Amino acid sequence: MIKEIFEHRSIRKYQDKPIPAEVMKSILEAAIRASNTGNMQVYSIVVTTNKEIKEALSPAHFNQPMVKQAPVILTFCADFNRFNKWCRARNAEPGYDNFLSFLTGAIDAIIAAQNACLEAEAHGLGICYLGTAIYNADKIIEVLNLPKGVVPVTAVTLGYPADIPELTDRLPMEAVIHYETYQDFSEASIDRIYAEKEARDDSKQFVKENNKETLAQVFTDIRYSKANNEHFSKVLFDVLKKQGYITD
Ligand SMILES: Cc1cc2nc3c(=O)[nH]c(=O)nc-3n(C[C@H](O)[C@H](O)[C@H](O)COP(=O)(O)O)c2cc1C
Repeated sequence: MIKEIFEHRSIRKYQDKPIPAEVMKSILEAAIRASNTGNMQVYSIVVTTNKEIKEALSPAHFNQPMVKQAPVILTFCADFNRFNKWCRARNAEPGYDNFLSFLTGAIDAIIAAQNACLEAEAHGLGICYLGTAIYNADKIIEVLNLPKGVVPVTAVTLGYPADIPELTDRLPMEAVIHYETYQDFSEASIDRIYAEKEARDDSKQFVKENNKETLAQVFTDIRYSKANNEHFSKVLFDVLKKQGYITD
């Protein structure tokens, strides 16, 4: 297991080879063994293998090619639907129509997703998360027929790798780890932490092909722009209203 963690890379090209049923079973079992809030298991996983449904999901994932190519797409959802139904059937009044409950379900769903990914990788499969699941949650709700209380928070493509890319870089430990209390960053420590990333050939290429001055600008102006973040935040708030997690 530890070995797989250190060899992780996202896989975006897959062989045309199905995942054996017993492997899928152990991936899903690993997912549901994850820690979860109060052992309520307020999440669900939609397993998509059907070609037509993958095609219908594809635009919601901005037509990223691996959505149609991977043999399996797992969509992980925050889900109080089942739990609310159980409560109501047992004379218990659920109080889960609020933002905290969405976040609770979302956290549980994400932890389950990572368990599934690790088990998949231990079986020689490749995975790639799809952040588009949350950007276009409204469209995914439609395609997967998700009832009130169910909100997709991430999706993962699964399959045997057709191409194994190089390991990607990570920032040094001091970027992420703080001992005892938070040590805020000085300008000098920011320079030190990002120096290696900025000096990489692929980073320089990224800056050049996007006509930017700095790598940070590629993130702020292109990959994760304010306008997009605000737009998709609004879409998500509307979804959370529709699915019963926030009120006006
Ligand atoms: C929540 C989340 C959403 C992601 N969304 C996408 C995505 O939509 N498309 C994609 O190609 N990769 C996506 N990724 C993969 C990241 O780009 C990748 O993990 C990161 O660049 C580090 O590379 P590595 O996984 O190969 O180590 C996502 C990862 C996470 C955790």
